[in-house]
Amino acid sequence: MPGSSIFDQLQADHAKLRELHEDTFPHPDQTRVIAVANQKGGVGKTSSAVNVAAALAQAGQEVLLIDADSQGNASTALGVDHSEGTMSLFDVLVEGRTLADVIQKTPFSEHLSCVPATIDLAALEIDLIDVSERESRLRLALREYLLHRSREGLPRMDYVIIDCPPSLGIMTINAFVAAGEVLIPMQAEYYALEGLALLTRSIDRIAAIHNPALSVSMIVLTMFDRRTTLAREVENEVRQYFPEATLHTKIPRSVRIAEAPSFGSPVIYFDPRSTGAVAYRELALEVALRGVSSANLEENK
Ligand SMILES: Nc1ncnc2c1ncn2[C@@H]1O[C@H](COP(=O)(O)OP(=O)(O)O)[C@@H](O)[C@H]1O
Ligand SMILES: [Mg+2]
Repeated sequence: MPGSSIFDQLQADHAKLRELHEDTFPHPDQTRVIAVANQKGGVGKTSSAVNVAAALAQAGQEVLLIDADSQGNASTALGVDHSEGTMSLFDVLVEGRTLADVIQKTPFSEHLSCVPATIDLAALEIDLIDVSERESRLRLALREYLLHRSREGLPRMDYVIIDCPPSLGIMTINAFVAAGEVLIPMQAEYYALEGLALLTRSIDRIAAIHNPALSVSMIVLTMFDRRTTLAREVENEVRQYFPEATLHTKIPRSVRIAEAPSFGSPVIYFDPRSTGAVAYRELALEVALRGVSSANLEENK
């Protein structure tokens, strides 16, 4: 029915889909390592990490998703085995295995692979207690893996996306030390800005000690309900405080996004035409375009 909000939404989705099909995703100059982090649980970290990774892979980018949460939700969402005893990120960080030893292919795309997380990652803090340079374990493993790919003549990784646990413990610190960028998914809630202030302070401190290049590069509003005044107010505030970092794309609240993991699939593949899938593809494109300097964009035209 013309004029109804569902009709408008569908039309807008179709227009965006056409646009996204026509747009080409530029390959970054170097491998981009992006930590998807927020110390709060349930804000859309895993959904964002998995769907941005899937959308980038679908667009022909070479993508590795590292599941760094002992819950293994990202592994589940990508249909990757993470039952107890599976070789996982734990074996890399604690047992000294290489990433190449533990990486699994995903059933969705030859361009998308995954390092699964197992439950033993929950005790990482204790397992690394007497290990030197314990905050750099992931960075070293990743550097070695990227070199291994180039030695073996494998295609260069375009993106490494790290799905962090909901805490600022040793696992998230490892992700911040390994990453060049941080993507913060946040829900437009009343206390969200206070959480964001703590997170950005923590990132700045880790950057100062271990990784000067790191900064909060991207913030994405998730589970967004544009009908509520609170959501719009929080959005305005976030944009005011973080005008550069706050992404244009917002992820709407969508049942399909929430349903997809139970089918072991990112929503991008599960229901590609749904509002949630379209929004995540738009987000992936925005992330991809952010990583390219304007000079390169000119060349790509
Ligand atoms: N845009 C969305 N709309 C509806 N439900 C969502 C959306 N994003 C995530 N969810 C659901 O909310 C819960 C938390 O999301 P998740 O991505 O796992 O967050 P986190 O990794 O930060 O804990 C999950 O059940 C997920 O399926
Ligand atoms: Mg999660």
